[in-house]
Amino acid sequence: MCGIVAYIGEKQAYPILIKGLQRLEYRGYDSAGVAMIDNKTLNVYKCKGKVGDLVTFIGDNNTSGTIGIGHTRWATHGVPNDVNAHPQYSASKNMVMIHNGIIENYGPLKEEMKKRGHVFLSDTDTEVLIHLIEDIVQKEQVKLGEAVRIALNQVVGAYSIVILSKENPNELFAAKKGSPMVIGIGENEFFIASDATPIVEYTKNVVYMEDEEIAYIERGKELKIKTIKNKAKTPYVQELEMKLEALEKGGYDHFMLKEIYEQPRSIKDSMRGRISSQMGIVNLGGIAEYEKKFMNAKRIIFIACGTSWHAGLVGEYLFEDLARIPVEVEYASEFRYRNPIVYEDDVVIAISQSGETADTLAAIELAKSKGATIIGICNVVGSSIARATHAGSYTHAGPEIGVASTKAFTAQVTVLTLMALRVAFLKGSISSSRYHELLSELEAIPAKVERVLLKNDKIKFIADIYKNSTNALYLGRGYSFPVALEGALKLKEISYIHAEGYPAAEMKHGPIALIDEEMPVFVIATKGASYEKVVSNIQEVKARKGKIIAIVTEGDKQVKEMADYTIEIPETDEILVPLVSVVPLQLLSYHIAVMRGCNVDQPRNLAKSVTVE
Ligand code: G6P
Repeated sequence: MCGIVAYIGEKQAYPILIKGLQRLEYRGYDSAGVAMIDNKTLNVYKCKGKVGDLVTFIGDNNTSGTIGIGHTRWATHGVPNDVNAHPQYSASKNMVMIHNGIIENYGPLKEEMKKRGHVFLSDTDTEVLIHLIEDIVQKEQVKLGEAVRIALNQVVGAYSIVILSKENPNELFAAKKGSPMVIGIGENEFFIASDATPIVEYTKNVVYMEDEEIAYIERGKELKIKTIKNKAKTPYVQELEMKLEALEKGGYDHFMLKEIYEQPRSIKDSMRGRISSQMGIVNLGGIAEYEKKFMNAKRIIFIACGTSWHAGLVGEYLFEDLARIPVEVEYASEFRYRNPIVYEDDVVIAISQSGETADTLAAIELAKSKGATIIGICNVVGSSIARATHAGSYTHAGPEIGVASTKAFTAQVTVLTLMALRVAFLKGSISSSRYHELLSELEAIPAKVERVLLKNDKIKFIADIYKNSTNALYLGRGYSFPVALEGALKLKEISYIHAEGYPAAEMKHGPIALIDEEMPVFVIATKGASYEKVVSNIQEVKARKGKIIAIVTEGDKQVKEMADYTIEIPETDEILVPLVSVVPLQLLSYHIAVMRGCNVDQPRNLAKSVTVE
């Protein structure tokens, strides 16, 4: 959600803050703000809109200072406007705070402070917290750092905060619970951010803060961390593996397009060092110690949200098919609030690109408290979910900046395939010939995805025909059902066309009523067990004058004759089709959104990393 960046050191803070906010803009982009201290003057600038709007708004105003904080907002409390933008002021306006997360008990705190004469300018929960902190400094006559600690003990909810105070021009105070926070340590300088992307170009040495920790970051001094219960902690400095190029568009018009095109490489990276078809080996080091748990598991539960949930659905088919373990796929937000039955011999697999999704994190904690084994499949190294799980496998897709997830999905499905194959091998639930066949087919996937990307011009042509649709239906069966859901999600989230994914056979139980000559129906009709059944579903659509755009296997004749347009993809094993068939759907959504003039990388109302429930 909101992006946080802060700097203290010898350089000018403002350019670092702006560049950092631009890197973080994928997290939230409805308003932005910065604050710097110059010679005991606190200069605060904030406005509705994107970081570019903030820069224009600031113009030639004084931005000097070697200490500062910056924020991009994704509104929770209060509409996006200049006043609700962060930084938020304390009552005296001597200190400001930026915040990511939600203070759940802000209502009662606000009421109580109002009774004591506090006047609040904004609708935010953030303003309540910074007022409370200043109140404690004044009433209890304690230093700011101690007041932060006392205040955070009264707060219910999630937060990552950074405070800048005119009275303390050489110090920043940062704290976190539930929302991520990383501190970069440079030469006589510190960087603080919601993730490592704004930090990587300055230093590779980072400390990931833990929940309920406060960092006291003083100019020229060592980083000090303690818990809100006043226990000193030794900062654990790690080395960042992220590469700067991964954060740039690299000549593409949008991050989303770049990330779609990266898939042959990112799928390969997800498999790198983990598979050898020649030697018949699948090896996932991260879960090696937990293989027995998998073998003895009576059930696997996937928990995830959004696109990651769709990857979980593919995981269901894979694990049931290959490893013969019953699977349930749960929306993390539903799972956590419905008193679920979780057994100690359940293996819970949490899937998350960002590794920060609040609902997924909470669902993990719940399953953990019931004694289950928790395995993570995350993209962001060192993220909260990666750290909250017992073990896991990173997807190694590289940073995904476009809000609509693309390469993360194919990387998740790749890792799930490897996991299911490994468990199936260990359990002996797969024949040796099938196992070897699937390993070599999996290794061939990146080259097949490469071939799909060559179809871009045709996909763009089809996009042009359907760009003005108001509704779209996506159909698939078996392994292609989750792909239908994912195709529909991609279209709706970036082009704002209403789209629904359905198991093809379910169409006649409702969506068929929507079909007329205006309705494009995207069908994944690749060769496989349900091919003939899907052909019948296509006929049902045609009979009602619906338009069929089908993803078919190279060389297909039957569907080609019926469909208005087809996009051919290389033949692969049925269980691996999602890795290939999702790619044309990603491209199709991308082109439609661009043609409709939508902001593809930052679709309205969405955020990349959803750190509030
Ligand atoms: C947001 C993003 C989606 C993502 C979902 C889950 O809604 O916009 O692209 O699939 O969160 O995020 P996660 O990081 O847990 O995979």
